[in-house]
This record gives sequence, C-alpha cells and structure tokens, in this order.
Amino acid sequence: MAVPSFARMKKLVVLDFGGQYAHLIATRIRHLGVYSEIRFPGAEPADLRDVGGVILSGGPSSVYDSDRPDFDARWLAVPVPVLGLCYGHHTINQELGGHVQQGKVHEFGPADLEHDGLSPLFSGIPSPTRVWMSHGDEVDILPSGFRVSGTTSNCRHAAVENVPSRRFGLQFHPEVVHTVHGERILSNFLDVCGFRRDWNIGDYAAALSDKIRLQAHGRKVFLLVSGGVDSTVAFALLNKTLGPDRVLGLHIDNGLMRESESAGVMEFMKREGFDNLRISDASELFLSRLSGIWEPERKRKIIGDTFLDVQAEETAKLGLDPEEWLLAQGTIYPDTIESGGTTNAATIKTHHNRVPAILRLIEAGRILEPLAELYKDEVRELGEKLGIPHDLVWRHPFPGPGLGVRLLCQGPDAPRASTESIQAASAVAAAHGFGFAALPVRSVGVQGDGRTYAQPAVLSGPCDWKKLETAAVELTNKVRAFNRVVWHVAGAKNFSAHEAYSEWGRLSLLRALDAESTAWLQRIGAYETIWQMPVVLLPVRAGGKEVVVLRPVISREAMTASFWEAPEAELRDLAGKLLELGAGAVLYDCTHKPPGTIEWE
Ligand code: XMP
Repeated sequence: MAVPSFARMKKLVVLDFGGQYAHLIATRIRHLGVYSEIRFPGAEPADLRDVGGVILSGGPSSVYDSDRPDFDARWLAVPVPVLGLCYGHHTINQELGGHVQQGKVHEFGPADLEHDGLSPLFSGIPSPTRVWMSHGDEVDILPSGFRVSGTTSNCRHAAVENVPSRRFGLQFHPEVVHTVHGERILSNFLDVCGFRRDWNIGDYAAALSDKIRLQAHGRKVFLLVSGGVDSTVAFALLNKTLGPDRVLGLHIDNGLMRESESAGVMEFMKREGFDNLRISDASELFLSRLSGIWEPERKRKIIGDTFLDVQAEETAKLGLDPEEWLLAQGTIYPDTIESGGTTNAATIKTHHNRVPAILRLIEAGRILEPLAELYKDEVRELGEKLGIPHDLVWRHPFPGPGLGVRLLCQGPDAPRASTESIQAASAVAAAHGFGFAALPVRSVGVQGDGRTYAQPAVLSGPCDWKKLETAAVELTNKVRAFNRVVWHVAGAKNFSAHEAYSEWGRLSLLRALDAESTAWLQRIGAYETIWQMPVVLLPVRAGGKEVVVLRPVISREAMTASFWEAPEAELRDLAGKLLELGAGAVLYDCTHKPPGTIEWE
C-alpha cells in the first residue's frame, strides 16, 4: 500500500529539552511553510532521510548539571544545518569543544542585539534589534571554527556560528513575539536549510484521509465527541473519509458541561446531517465520584478515569467487537507530545486523554488519532476546509474536565497566608494605590518551568489596567505566597472560606454565571478577540454568597497568555448582572501566564 505523501515531506526536527517554548518553535516553523516535528534529544537520530534541519530548544537545566536531559550527540553530526536556542545553544557549544559557565548577570526580558550583518541568520535585519532573553548561564569559550555574529551589553556570545559546517547558536529566543525580528531569523534559518515552503493544511488533509483509511484497515471507528473544536473536526473528518456507516460517535454528558451544552451538541450534529452520534447521561456517576473531593489533581484523575469507565460500559452495551472496531480520539499535537515518554518538562496539570489504559491501547495499535500531528490553529483551518460552520470552529477551547476545574472546592482547612506575606503584599498594593486582601483559596500556577499552588491576592481601587498589571507583576515576583492577582470589580469584600465540593447547586449557579458572561462577550463583540474566558466559582463567600472570577486571556497557543483589558463600563454592567444572578462579589483576574495558568486548577 502507498505511504501517505506527507510522511515524505521534508521536515524540520525540534529537539525538546523541556523548555516551555519547544512547541512555539514548532508552530512558528509550520507557519513559515515547513512541516516540523518534536523529538526527544536522548533518542538516536533515526529516519533522517526527510529531515532538512534541526533546532535544539531551550530548557530549564544547565549543561553542567548531572541531571541534565539525555542528549545523543550524534544529532550534531547530522548532514543538515543545526540551530541551538538558549540551552540548545549551550549544548552545541559545549559538545563541540567550547565551554559554558554561570553568567555574572542573569538576564530575563528584553535586550538589544548588535550584529555585524555578515550572518545569514540576520539577513535583512537592522542592528541593533530588540531580542528576548531568559538565561542564567552563558557560553564563555567558543568551539574552534566558530565566530561571534552578535552581542548584547550583558552577553558577549549572544549569537555564534560556524557557517561552513552550518552550525548556529543563539542565546536569545527568536520564537517569542517579544523578539521583534524573531520570525525573520527563523525564516532565514529555513533558507540556510534550503527548505521549499510547501507545507499547507489543504494538501495535508488529503494525505490525512489516506492515513486514516490505511490505519482503519477495513475496521469501523468509535469516537468520543465532546462537541469541542477538536472532537467535532475529528468526527467530521472520519465521517467524510470512511462514510457514516463505519463511524459511531458517543457524547458523554458528565454533568460538568456548560448550560444546554449536551443538547446543543446533539442538535448541531443532527443539523449537519450526522445521525451516527449517541449520547450517554453519566452526570450522576461523575458527581457522586467527585463527592467530598477538593484537590485539583485528584478531581482531574477521577474525571479522566470515569470517562473511560463510561466508555467501556457503552461499548460493552453496544457489543462492539474489538476486532472490528478501533477507538478514535480527537487528541492534538501538544497533548500527544507532552505525554509521550521521557518528557523533560515538569507536570503542571495532568491532561485527561493519556491515562495508562489508553497508552496500552495505543501500544497495541488500537487507537486512531487523526489530529495528533496538528496544532489548534491548524485544526481550525482544517475544520473550515471541511465546511464546519465558522462559529463552531472558532469556539473557545474548553478543558476536558469541563466545569470540574472551574468549580473550585475546599476541604476543612482553608489556606491562610503568613503575616509577613500579607504585610509585604499590602505594601506593594499600597505603593500602586490599591487596597489589598488575601483570598482564602489556592489556585494552580506555573513559575520557572514548575507548578505552584498558592493563594490569589485581591486588589481594590480604580480600574486602571496598566497600574493593575504593574502591581500584579511586582506582587507575584516579590511575594512567593501569592501566584495570582485579581481586581475587585463589584460586590462585598468580607471574604471568608467555607468547605465546599462539586455539588449540583453550586454547579448550576456556575453554569448561569458562565452563560451570562459568555453571552456578554459575544454581545460586546469581543468573543473572537480573546482566546478563552474561564468563569470560576470559589469556595469563598462575600456578603454571604460565593465569589465569582472572570479570567479572559489573549493567547496564541495557550503556552503563554496575557490577561485581557476589558472595557470598564461594559465590565461593570456585566458584574451587576452576575451579582443579581447570585454571586457575592465579582473578581477579575489580572495575572499573565506565567505566573498564573489560564484555568485556576
Ligand atoms: P492552563 O490552565 O494549563 O491551560 O494554562 C492551557 C489550555 O489548556 C486547556 N486545558 C485543558 N484541555 N484537557 C484539555 O483538553 C485538560 O485537562 C485541560 N486542562 C486545561 C485550558 O482550557 C487552556 O486552553
């Protein structure tokens, strides 16, 4: 049988040393028209026939650490150009005979790079140019044959190269948008590699259908359909490729969906002509298993396991013969690669579609994941190509565990910040003209490539986004007891913690608040401006009622995000409605990611 054509496409390999930005590098390269793939640096360089270039990512380690990530140095002997970024730059220099040491100055943030205009990487780029740094180590001795092509005031070897051997190293990060000409630098590297810019989703979609037919091998396919972008696109693609007789979808109502969501999904599918989708109402089971549980990771695990149990029960009920049926998932690339083996990155949150039982099925070749090589924006492009309506394709991402991670719970012992932390945080707030309170609850965050679980700080005062941003950044940098900052928009301010779990009453209040807030976003024309807006209900009361938080963010792929600056009058209008619906206070999250993750847990 013929091999699908995309497997023969020239590609760029990104070696992931555990930096939070490895995915950014891969998506940027694809946007530049070249197919890219992430691999683990400890794996031997295999299947090199179609590899046209290699980029070594950054990472949280130092090259002189004994527990640094494994690296197979044969990657530096491949017959194609190699570029190292930050930790990858240190690796190239150290492995080829140079030396890396701890820098005198740790650099985080913007710097001005001066270059001599001779490097092919800086072709067409002015000097100086603004770049973005994040490092403690530096290269102090270069390998022989290398020269310096760019410097900053704090970093002598900010850009180095050996042009004849096509090896390059950059201390800064061209993959982040704060490096003004970062995309051009990456594009110049692709030119050095000699890539044709021929990757596009249209050609890929055709090859993808070949791949699905090949893997299904005459069998039928069973897919869980949440109704989100990924599973809907996967369902439409499978239907189109295999025909509705060979595809069966199951929508599980886990009781953690948004208002009228399950009914809406079924209605939409019917309207689009799919009558091969079943629904199973398992809300009682999910809610009973979550009873009395408050820790975020335990909630996530229970929800993930229960999905599998319900699915197993349904397939047994339907009598689907495993020889005849494959299981499909709408998993996308970041999920695939982050859970795929010896990852060097820390676990911030456990995602739900790669529990051990699923991994065993993958191993046995029993799982089909048609979107597993795509990023979110590519899935959306594919969805539009398949004719899925615009509004569905551009729906905000919704986490697998649903409202389960937006309905925060609290056991008997609420957190209580120390007097020193409260004093330090109050001082920062006051210096920027804000009142301060510690919120008696914890949320998940990400700082320095690791997970945090700490209290949010509440600032009260005028709606001045710039001041709120400065205060939030300073407060979370200075006082480790707080990993998130919210602004008090409306309602009472006497916050008190109380024991609370995933219960029907709290869920229905959250559903109503969420529906009102989402409708508001659409009404004011901001729905497509932002990436998503989690609405979070806290186990905290103000004026005798529970407190709600709005968390709208701007992002490109959810690895980093900034909080959205909502128009004040409209926001106050919404807050008034949320108080009427039963919230005791309305808070607005003004934390970037990092240090706060997008979801609260
Ligand atoms: P965080 O909260 O880690 O979220 O900044 C990043 C993006 O991932 C979504 N998210 C999930 N998606 N299963 C998913 O499919 C999950 O378990 C899950 N948890 C978070 C989140 O909504 C955001 O878009």
